[in-house]
Amino acid sequence: MLINFLFFILARANYYLPPENDELSTQTCGKYQCTPTTISIPSASCGTVTNIDTFNLQICANPSSVPYCNTTTLECTAIPNLAPLQSYPGEPCIAQSDCLYGTCTSQICVGQGVNGACTSHAMCAPGYRCSNGGTCQAQIAIGVTGCRDYHDCVNWGGCNSTYSSSNGTCIQYATVNNGELVTDCISGYSNLCKTGFCKKSQGWFSNIGTCSKAPYSSSTTPMSCTVDTDCKGSDGTNIYLSKCVCGYNSAGTSYCMPFIGDAVGILLISTLTTALKSAGVCNTGRRSTKECMKLLNKESSTTSVIYGFDYYPLTINNDACVKQIYTPEYWQLVISSGVISKYAMIYFVIEFFI
Ligand SMILES: *[C@@H]1O[C@H](CO)[C@@H](O)[C@H](O)[C@H]1NC(C)=O
Ligand SMILES: *[C@@H]1O[C@H](CO)[C@@H](O)[C@H](O)[C@H]1NC(C)=O
Ligand SMILES: *[C@@H]1O[C@H](CO)[C@@H](O)[C@H](O)[C@H]1NC(C)=O
Repeated sequence: MLINFLFFILARANYYLPPENDELSTQTCGKYQCTPTTISIPSASCGTVTNIDTFNLQICANPSSVPYCNTTTLECTAIPNLAPLQSYPGEPCIAQSDCLYGTCTSQICVGQGVNGACTSHAMCAPGYRCSNGGTCQAQIAIGVTGCRDYHDCVNWGGCNSTYSSSNGTCIQYATVNNGELVTDCISGYSNLCKTGFCKKSQGWFSNIGTCSKAPYSSSTTPMSCTVDTDCKGSDGTNIYLSKCVCGYNSAGTSYCMPFIGDAVGILLISTLTTALKSAGVCNTGRRSTKECMKLLNKESSTTSVIYGFDYYPLTINNDACVKQIYTPEYWQLVISSGVISKYAMIYFVIEFFI
């Protein structure tokens, strides 16, 4: 399984949709288990399906040549080649063609420095952004005005914009206290709020919201469930719902997605904001990517907290072979992508009051 590593900035549904045969509308989930000794599986394959919905899995028997389990076909294959991505300024290269922009110098792609011409943030060296005037200029420090969006700010801060002009103020991620307004409130999530949670204060289509106490699961996690309405969270006053998602366990049990106020959500915010504090070596547009985390030597710690939150239901009660086959960090196959998407859209629009 390939997961989307990226986090921050754009809205996306963060819950994982299991394979089609696990559709929750039918309230049935596949059962995933290590193959019982009573079933024999050919060595070229990594599993077999019995009773329509039971996945009997085994680690590929020939790890030197075909170590990868294709979970669609249940065949052992070579590790799929991910198309190599071009590097941004600040990232490693061997040849000039490895660099999306800039020149490959001493095995690093070197972008434009101060006053260098640019048409995109990706052309500027780490520490710089492409300004309105089409030149690379230093990223804006925390507390200073002049940002249009987060790219203009240092890598550990976002842009709290103004209503009418593109002259926002850079604010450090996860520092705004409850009760204060932010302008990056999308689907209940704000990168600027200390809790990560915000409530829209100016209508559904605006991104203005008030930083608020984060909801947390109403029962001890993991919460097993059959429908979304089993997945209640609370901020002490209001009730929120998350999603009921099929897991990868032998009983076919579904579990609720966590809330951002749960331990795994708090850990996610603190791990990512701490990592970003040292992300000055990355291009401004790369702050929230696996490639940047690699430069910081924080790829595995950040991947595991993102996985542990975004794919929480899939991590509960896995058999050992299920973990190995379905856990992408084991295979180092976390998908690479230049697209930035936000990691957390958690609470669903269904929101009601006690
Ligand atoms: C798994 O096999 C299917 C069917 O042959 C193929 O389309 C898919 O690309 C394979 N997945 C991977 C990750 O190689
Ligand atoms: C963010 O911007 C809004 C709108 O300009 C402003 O009302 C709010 O006080 C700002 N928030 C912070 C934490 O500065
Ligand atoms: C942006 O706002 C600040 C504070 O309100 C002000 O001092 C500055 O001149 C403004 N800059 C621009 C380019 O409008």
